[in-house]
Amino acid sequence: MDAFSIHGGKRLTGTISVDGSKNASLPLLASSLLTDQTITFDSVPKLSDIENMGKLLAELGCDVSRDDQKVTITTVDESKSHARYDIVRTMRASVCVLGPLLAKRGEVRVSMPGGCAFGDRPIDLHLRGLEALGATIELDGGNIIAKADRLHGATIFLGGPFGSTVLGTANVMSAATLAKGRTIIESAACEPEITDLAILLNAMGAKISGAGTPRITIEGVEELGGAKHTVMPDRIVAGTWAIAAAMTNGDVEIERFPLDHLLAVTDVLSTVGVHVHQTNTSQDPRSCTVQVVSDRHLKPVMFTTQPFPGFPTDLQAQTMALLCLSRGNSIITEKIYPERFMHVPELSRMGAKLVRQGSTVIVQGVGHLVGAPVMASDLRASASLVLAGLAAEGETTVSRVYHLDRGYSSMEKTLSSIGADITRITDDVIVDGLPIVETVPPKKLVQANS
Ligand code: EPU
Repeated sequence: MDAFSIHGGKRLTGTISVDGSKNASLPLLASSLLTDQTITFDSVPKLSDIENMGKLLAELGCDVSRDDQKVTITTVDESKSHARYDIVRTMRASVCVLGPLLAKRGEVRVSMPGGCAFGDRPIDLHLRGLEALGATIELDGGNIIAKADRLHGATIFLGGPFGSTVLGTANVMSAATLAKGRTIIESAACEPEITDLAILLNAMGAKISGAGTPRITIEGVEELGGAKHTVMPDRIVAGTWAIAAAMTNGDVEIERFPLDHLLAVTDVLSTVGVHVHQTNTSQDPRSCTVQVVSDRHLKPVMFTTQPFPGFPTDLQAQTMALLCLSRGNSIITEKIYPERFMHVPELSRMGAKLVRQGSTVIVQGVGHLVGAPVMASDLRASASLVLAGLAAEGETTVSRVYHLDRGYSSMEKTLSSIGADITRITDDVIVDGLPIVETVPPKKLVQANS
């Protein structure tokens, strides 16, 4: 398993650009199952989760090809509709194929996703929504089996104990495009990834209005056709780069920064004392350029994660790393995934002072962190450890980089391009007992890390 070796304390400066969004791409790619015509996507990030979705779609009868950031998908065989456990267990978002397969093929078998590193992640709301559209659903041998001759429109409430569900809204909205009659989703997720999906579905011929609000209306159509779509920039990657700049006394220009999608985050950053301002005149959230400047005189803050437009749970861990560098006590409350705190013990190994009580963590700002060997068991927790390593004194080794490869495309290359001292240690090639370390640029040999 690869690791990152980071020598902290380098100031990040320069310009980087944000890739297309992982969490938008996954349901977007899955919606190709709704038609037998070709869908072409631009700005699809190169990530292991996207590769897995491509493999799953190929198993489900799609012809999938990639040329750099462009992905083309055409369904050529509609006879298969089983999303196997082998793929679903590596990526929960495989559940995105449930709605499209049910609507187009009338039957779907998807392995039930289990919990994940940060707790239970039920899909009861997805299933309740599809049942309301007329599907019969049963569980057999760990698989969800959903069937329907033709779905019909319905009014569906998708709110749950932690707010609405993003992928549940994606599944029900996608399925309802081919249902007979009108569907209204109340308490729909308002995340920008849902709006992006509705833009594609409408380009394919669907009739969806209200996406991005808590009430989405879908007038069912008989069939959908081909389309072209450019994936929105990744708001979580953009926020991660902004926090990296903030933690390193940085001065970084970030292109394709979706400012409108990150207002809750830029608001917290400005309270902390980090300056984020737009440097171009674009009104389009897909093409803002912002400059992030920090002198690392950071103030404490209190924030709570919430559904969009609130503070995103996917930036909670990274922001906790930032607040460790402040002076004073911050309070972070996690309202989406109350158990999402795997980074807490690892940040503590780097000198952070953190006290967790239930779904709240009190961060006692310590002003600086020290390097250490650390590892985490999910994507965003791992990202927070990389950011902590960039700001820490000395060397930090972050193990299990495969978590980061799920959501950040060649993270080490992007960070190196703006001055970070970060190298990937690959352990697949060993020479004389030493791993070959891929540096950026050339390759050299170093001592094995723990
Ligand atoms: N929930 C239910 N029942 C359901 C579905 C969800 O109770 O049927 C609960 C969940 O347990 C959670 C809350 O509702 O407490 C929100 O979950 P949601 O369904 O919105 O999450 P998701 O759609 O499975 C997506 C992202 C996550 C992100 C969440 C919240 C993708 C592929 N995943 O997951 O991204 O944290 O929305 O914004 O879009 C990540 O990128 O690191 C990541 C975990």
